[in-house]
Amino acid sequence: MKKISWVFLSLLLAVCMLVPVAVSCAEDTAGQAVVTIDNIRDFVVGIDEPVTLKDGTSRPLINFDNAATTPALKPVMEEVNEKLLMYGSIGRGFSLKSDFSTGIYENTRDKVLSFVGLNPKDLTYTMFYADNTTDGLNKLATALINDKSDIVLATRMEHHANDLPWRERCSAVGSKVIYAEVDAQGRIIYEDLERQLKENKVKYVTVTAASNVTGYMPDVHRIAKMAHQYGAMIIVDGAQIVAHRAFSMLGETPEENIDFFVFSAHKMYSPYGGGAVVGLNSVISGHQPAFYGGGTVHLVRDSIVNYKEGAEVYEAGSPNFPGVVGMGRAIDLLQQVGFDSIAEHEQKLVRRMIDGLLAIENVTVYGDTENLEDRVGVVTFNTSDANSLELASRMSDYGGIATRRGAFCAHPYVWRLMGYADDEMESFEGCTDFKTPGMIRVSFGIYNTEEEVDTFLEVLREQIEWIKQHNKELDAKELWDDVMFPEY
Ligand SMILES: Cc1ncc(COP(=O)(O)O)c(C=O)c1O
Repeated sequence: MKKISWVFLSLLLAVCMLVPVAVSCAEDTAGQAVVTIDNIRDFVVGIDEPVTLKDGTSRPLINFDNAATTPALKPVMEEVNEKLLMYGSIGRGFSLKSDFSTGIYENTRDKVLSFVGLNPKDLTYTMFYADNTTDGLNKLATALINDKSDIVLATRMEHHANDLPWRERCSAVGSKVIYAEVDAQGRIIYEDLERQLKENKVKYVTVTAASNVTGYMPDVHRIAKMAHQYGAMIIVDGAQIVAHRAFSMLGETPEENIDFFVFSAHKMYSPYGGGAVVGLNSVISGHQPAFYGGGTVHLVRDSIVNYKEGAEVYEAGSPNFPGVVGMGRAIDLLQQVGFDSIAEHEQKLVRRMIDGLLAIENVTVYGDTENLEDRVGVVTFNTSDANSLELASRMSDYGGIATRRGAFCAHPYVWRLMGYADDEMESFEGCTDFKTPGMIRVSFGIYNTEEEVDTFLEVLREQIEWIKQHNKELDAKELWDDVMFPEY
């Protein structure tokens, strides 16, 4: 009898040990664990790494700063480490490792094209790797803007990365950038965009697919249709969309197709650098960025340079192999988790966060707080009870919660949302002072949870209360030094 119960207990124990493994670690056809929205936290590098708070306690960070950058996923890190064993010079070496690395580098191009809804065999589009979105947009701007007739229509929603390259390049060739306005809630006014297209001979429209300040996703296919109707091409900044929604460069009709799309890998769980520009082959091939060096030429003589044509001319210098490997694996993983699950999860977090914030006295949440369907997981807010710089730094130092504070490299948009006129901002040059108007931004990754939102709201209430009670006269320098250079 004793023997039977011992056998039974052993069996039970084995089953109990196996069941959770089976549930959380189903495997794909390559024998690798399947990542889902429910088990994603098991796959995030550093998620349990404790940070030491100013009160001396330690705890894992709650990371609500995913719009800035995202942590690596473990399978991404493993893939990079594994492929580095066979790393060799790309496209230039005579070695088996070089062939191996070159193969991965070239094959990942097809994966990128498919990721943005294209058929890699269709030569209408091509792609080149970039260091990140900023680099890709700068390369496009220097390649495309050459003449005073090259007028660019941007919007007041843009990140500086999709504004300044166009401003600088247009001003260098005597052309100009004009802007479509946003409404009081921060959405692009399509009628204004169309008016600008009617009144100006615009060559390129450039717009973000998702705002890093409000999370709005403008209807870029609608904008593409308008742009094409007026003879312009459309460039889309994809930095904030790629980790949040499935994105296709193809619209429902050819007029709605996107001409150029740019994104960074570090915002999609592969922080090894790297990104991509996908665009019309005919246009990319006919232009060249102001970026020169090895890999871009057929032949260089004493005084004559014979450049290549096409995407290769945009990839001067030695390629970023880990960046490309990581990006390829990140694409697989995001698709494995599924963008429908990601969107559904994110909407829950945004709703909970906004409702929680609005329940706190004297808190302002920017943008539309009722209709959230056109927003990715970004929420910005302020409270009249605390300086945003002090509040964000206390949330980090005493709550272990990462957010971002400021104007998020989108100054014109942030000032508009906060109700400041352009000329009022002159005295805030430098933007590093605690007196400079700014917001606090919470931005979600796929691994954040509703419990984390609740903890955030609790810590926020505590910290606002602390600041109110201490009502201290802030010493700007002391506060800034403390924020910028904490002791570790
Ligand atoms: C909307 C948007 N565009 C462009 C960028 C620039 O991206 P990167 O810093 O990867 O070049 C960012 C970065 O936050 C962004 O949010």
